[in-house]
Amino acid sequence: MDSILVRGNGPLKGQIPIAGAKNACLTLMPATLLTEEPLTLTNAPRLSDIRTMTQLLGSLGAEVVALQGGQVLAMSSHDLTSQHADYDIVRKMRASILVLGPLLARFGQAEVSLPGGCAIGARPVDLHLKALEAMGAELDLRDGYVRAKTSGLRGAVFEFPIVSVGATENALMAATLAKGTTVLKNAAREPEIVDLAQCLRRMGAQIEGEGTSTITIQGVDRLGGATHPVVTDRIELGTYMLAPAICGGEVELLGGRIDLLAAFCEKLDAAGVSVTETERGLTVARKNGRIRAVDVVTEPFPGFPTDLQAQMMALLCTAEGTSVLEEKIFENRFMHAPELTRMGARIEVQGGHATVHGVEKLRGAPVMATDLRASVSLILAALAAEGETVVSRVYHLDRGYERVEEKLSACGALIERIAG
Ligand code: UD1
Repeated sequence: MDSILVRGNGPLKGQIPIAGAKNACLTLMPATLLTEEPLTLTNAPRLSDIRTMTQLLGSLGAEVVALQGGQVLAMSSHDLTSQHADYDIVRKMRASILVLGPLLARFGQAEVSLPGGCAIGARPVDLHLKALEAMGAELDLRDGYVRAKTSGLRGAVFEFPIVSVGATENALMAATLAKGTTVLKNAAREPEIVDLAQCLRRMGAQIEGEGTSTITIQGVDRLGGATHPVVTDRIELGTYMLAPAICGGEVELLGGRIDLLAAFCEKLDAAGVSVTETERGLTVARKNGRIRAVDVVTEPFPGFPTDLQAQMMALLCTAEGTSVLEEKIFENRFMHAPELTRMGARIEVQGGHATVHGVEKLRGAPVMATDLRASVSLILAALAAEGETVVSRVYHLDRGYERVEEKLSACGALIERIAG
């Protein structure tokens, strides 16, 4: 298993290009199942999660051709051969459940393995199922699979009891081909949902209200092909914004947009990090002096994203004062805290709260990545630490960050991959 070696090396200077969003791409890819015409995605990120989705779609008989080194995905679901998403692939990635809505809408049946729990919590899929049931799906849960069938999905009014990104995406895709009007209330408002709606509209869907908590979909008989650029990855963006924040210097994030991360940018400002818009993106620099402590509560968009909580904690480890981070989306998402503690951080975790007492300096140490965002938080901490850090189990990192060593080295960081 590969590991990443980092030597803390002071301020960073340079530019980092931000890729297309993993989470948007993982919901845009299953949208190909809704049509027999070609769907092409541009600005796709090159990540192992995308390869897993490619494998899943391939197992259904869809064609996914990666062009231009993987930045363009040319897909066709003209000749699907199966509506069965097997456990062997689904267990690798929860987003696999996103094939359920499209398969059901186009073929009237689907059999999808239930994704298991994952490192950051139980993460059930009950809301995906309830929304589809409201549209007329008949569901049977047996042997670890959900078997869904319908004689035709019908439009429905469905209110999500809690905001769920994935369940909103599944319901939105299914509703595009349902008969009549669907109204999704308390829908997720994430930029990835807006991106999905825009792509579906390019394919001929009739959708209004994406980006608000009520989305209205007027079902159509069929969808056609389209070409769609994947929205910027706001989580990759936020992660790299934290690099100059944590070790000083100034970095320009090419393709960066404040509107994707407004709540996060407010916290950076309060912590003493300046963010300015440039012609090509955003420039981030640490203001004079030490980072100041700030409190953070994770919330659905437009709140502070849970997917940046671990990285923000890395920053706050060396802040002046005490910060409290409250995790409201996932119940077990502080596994990076004990690893950061190995590097000299002072963190107490109690339930959904982590209290971080800032220290002057972190020290390098051998640490272990426990999930995707935790792994990159350890790399950020290592950039600011004294001495050498080896982060092991970096396969988590490769799920969501492309060429991380290259992007950070280009700004002067001493970081390399050790093949294991
Ligand atoms: C997506 C993102 C993930 C991000 C999360 C929250 C993708 C591929 N992943 O995950 O990176 O951390 O949004 O922004 O886009 N829940 C239920 N029942 C359900 C579905 C969800 O109880 O049927 C709960 C979850 O356990 C969690 C909360 O709802 O507590 C929000 O989860 P959700 O928004 O669905 O996350 P994902 O779509 O899985």
